[in-house]
Amino acid sequence: MNVSVIGAGYVGLVQAAGLAALGHRVVIGEIDAERVHTLEGGDSPFREPGLAELLKSGTLAGTLQFTTDNVAAIKSARIVFLTLPTPEGADGAADLSIVEGVVDEIGGKLEPGTVLVLKSTVPVGTADRVQEHLDQVGTSGIVVVSNPEFLAEGSAVSDFMTPSRIVIGARVREAADVLADVYQGLDAPVVFTDPTSAEMIKYASNAYLATRVTFGNAIANVCEAIGADVMDVLRGMGHDERIGHHFMKPGPGFGGSCFPKDTKALVSIARAAGYRFSLLEGVIEVNEAQHHLVVDKVRAAAGGDLTGKTVGMLGLAYKAGTADLRGSPALELARLIHAAGAKVHAFDPAVQSELADIVMVGSTMEAARGADVLLIATEWPEFAEMDVEAVGELLAGDAVVDARNLLDPAVVRSAGLRYWGVGR
Ligand SMILES: NC(=O)c1ccc[n+]([C@@H]2O[C@H](COP(=O)([O-])OP(=O)(O)OC[C@H]3O[C@@H](n4cnc5c(N)ncnc54)[C@H](O)[C@@H]3O)[C@@H](O)[C@H]2O)c1
Repeated sequence: MNVSVIGAGYVGLVQAAGLAALGHRVVIGEIDAERVHTLEGGDSPFREPGLAELLKSGTLAGTLQFTTDNVAAIKSARIVFLTLPTPEGADGAADLSIVEGVVDEIGGKLEPGTVLVLKSTVPVGTADRVQEHLDQVGTSGIVVVSNPEFLAEGSAVSDFMTPSRIVIGARVREAADVLADVYQGLDAPVVFTDPTSAEMIKYASNAYLATRVTFGNAIANVCEAIGADVMDVLRGMGHDERIGHHFMKPGPGFGGSCFPKDTKALVSIARAAGYRFSLLEGVIEVNEAQHHLVVDKVRAAAGGDLTGKTVGMLGLAYKAGTADLRGSPALELARLIHAAGAKVHAFDPAVQSELADIVMVGSTMEAARGADVLLIATEWPEFAEMDVEAVGELLAGDAVVDARNLLDPAVVRSAGLRYWGVGR
């Protein structure tokens, strides 16, 4: 099938490279000329396991092409996927201006019969509104379909190849079938529904996952107050198959480019429809407080005042396996610690960027050297394997704040260091 993907970000590039691997011809429209240049040179613009190889093979085979001209990208496409940013707007609702701008740009140029797929996370009702808009401006025969994306950064390519589910929200059966056809070759349950329900599936899934993380953090905070070990508590809970062991690791709070904005957007969607989603409002509030609890521990570990202290930070990415800094709790911790008067020396195995208020260093050992407190902020496996004794010798102080519960507290203490975890 001839397919077009507009927006070469995490979702768009994985979608495009994955569809090319399934045998389709894909043209990607991307506004950022430098990104297109990188892609044409055979490189991936960001770190994502397996993506560079997939992009290379599609580019070499000629099944994957890139252009900065969205209108050229959609030429003769049977399906057009919009994988554009939908950032948080000023009032917490999703900002749809980029999606709407591209719909206006390409709407009149789509061939009748084209299936226009909203893959970005968009407020409930958007697919129907876009359909209405296209019908009103006289673009006939275009069917707008919702097909939300569930990939996780760090495992995005394998999430494409073995998806947990494919959700297709359409009001026209033939359009739903065309979309199901493009995914032929993937072994996954397909949920056919209407666009409104499809859009809601995405928000409800992210809101549930964010709630689960936050529930684990809240239980950790109670454990800490009463002297229980949250790691044992969660292990004990997880054996109940209604609960399970996944996705409830205590830490500095959820982050990333999706959960913070999608939880706020769902609160706003519910409010606009007349329902106060106080449970999710509570999740957002508890999550924001979680950052401050970690900073309080760093302050306590530094003797009660961070002024003039040095904090060695391990990790900046919002989670292990990615270099993505968007919405990273680690970055928020660095910002708060710097604002409290400390110097931040940080190492992340995937991040090399220049960042305001942070001195970037090249290794765990460099981050530890001369630091009053060592703070583990991202759960990279290599931090779990650090030589705690050697790290302890480089510290100016004797405190480790492990905001990801990566280290064994007994090992840290036996190296003569003081240990703060989350809920233990
Ligand atoms: N990143 C994730 O893990 C993830 C997972 C599921 C869903 N989503 C959703 O998917 C959507 C895209 O997310 P992302 O992380 O891939 O975003 P991204 O910011 O990584 O990528 C978006 C791309 O679109 C490009 N773009 C912007 N305006 C454009 C225009 N007018 N024409 C062409 N290209 C344009 C940008 O330059 C960028 O390359 C969002 O709605 C997000 O919520 C993201």
